[in-house]
Amino acid sequence: MEIEEFVEKYYVERQHTNSLKWDLLEERFGQADLLPLWVADMDFKVSQAITKILKDRILHGVYGYTFAGKSYYQAYNNWMETYFSFPIKEEWVRFSTGVVQAIYHLLYTFTDENDSVIIQTPVYYPFSDAVKDTNRRLVNVDLVNNDGYFTIDFERFEQAIIDQSVKLYIHCSPHNPVGRVWTEEEQANLFAICQKHNVLIISDEIHQDFTFEREHIPAANVSEGVHRPRVITVNSASKSFNIAGLTHCNIVITDDELRQKYDDFANSMIKTEANIMGLFATEAAYVDGMDWIDSLKNVIFNNYEIVRDYFTKFAPEITVSPLEGTYLVFVDLRKVVKSDEMVEFIQEKCGLAVDYGEWFGEGYEGFIRLNLATKPENIEKAVQTIVEQLG
Ligand SMILES: Cc1ncc(COP(=O)(O)O)c(C=O)c1O
Repeated sequence: MEIEEFVEKYYVERQHTNSLKWDLLEERFGQADLLPLWVADMDFKVSQAITKILKDRILHGVYGYTFAGKSYYQAYNNWMETYFSFPIKEEWVRFSTGVVQAIYHLLYTFTDENDSVIIQTPVYYPFSDAVKDTNRRLVNVDLVNNDGYFTIDFERFEQAIIDQSVKLYIHCSPHNPVGRVWTEEEQANLFAICQKHNVLIISDEIHQDFTFEREHIPAANVSEGVHRPRVITVNSASKSFNIAGLTHCNIVITDDELRQKYDDFANSMIKTEANIMGLFATEAAYVDGMDWIDSLKNVIFNNYEIVRDYFTKFAPEITVSPLEGTYLVFVDLRKVVKSDEMVEFIQEKCGLAVDYGEWFGEGYEGFIRLNLATKPENIEKAVQTIVEQLG
């Protein structure tokens, strides 16, 4: 589908719909009249297949306890096998109400208090919150910033693991906010280090379906799957299909012993059943959602090009990280706005709500993350205003 056609068909005005992104601006930013390009959900309606399945359930009129049927596992397995060459056995799968919640539970299961957990910053901030909130020790290693293109510092990663006796690594793949889709080689090097030092891997692959530059390689498949037993994959349809409010995600644990350990934890701590709408919407997404994603990817990449090209032309001192994956773009404003004036510039002068760089790790003041999952008009307005306000 063409970009204009997709936007016409799926874009929705979300004010006054209990949207966190649009309706909590006053609470989160102290100002209600901002154009929200922050939290990662989309301003687009879900695919018709998802609408249909949910509508059918609504009309059925009973929302009692439920379970994932064979067709759920089949759809999930097909999706993972077809697009990521990672067939999923039903017995490997557990559910959670969200990837963030799953990470908390996995930290409780597989680490003890004061154990060290490593992350690569800048990274999705609930990773560091989860480590701190569970009383684990946070070990940050910065990615290397090569003029906006972020890469891994393997030496520092390994040294930090040795120095801090790290037990677990939280991998973000594709990586929010820097937009990288990790190569096979990068992941092979990372995981070889983890293996050498017996570090368990939680791989957050929630952005797996949004890649532009190269294909996403699941951590479980790296180096012909040699690390699979020590990789716990967490993914969901929530980001890709805009169903985060339905609170459902998959946890894939292929190793029997680790899975037993997780089940023991879950039996003592987690007593929620799956969300009926989340299950059904996820199944519908995985049955035949790729056409919808492909059309949406055109919209997202076009929005990225608007940001990149506008700044290249009118404010070349701004660095835009290349968008290999996700629908979030990391922008470096350090050469044009002083860090301590950033909030005033972005909110008061430009009227925007964004994620600020320092939320993703210490030292990233001066960066912002823009959410591209909206109509091009909003993105044009944002970049034009930024350039105008720079004067
Ligand atoms: C890397 C990453 N993980 C997890 C999440 C949130 O997942 P959930 O809503 O399932 O907790 C996000 C949301 O932006 C994300 O970017």
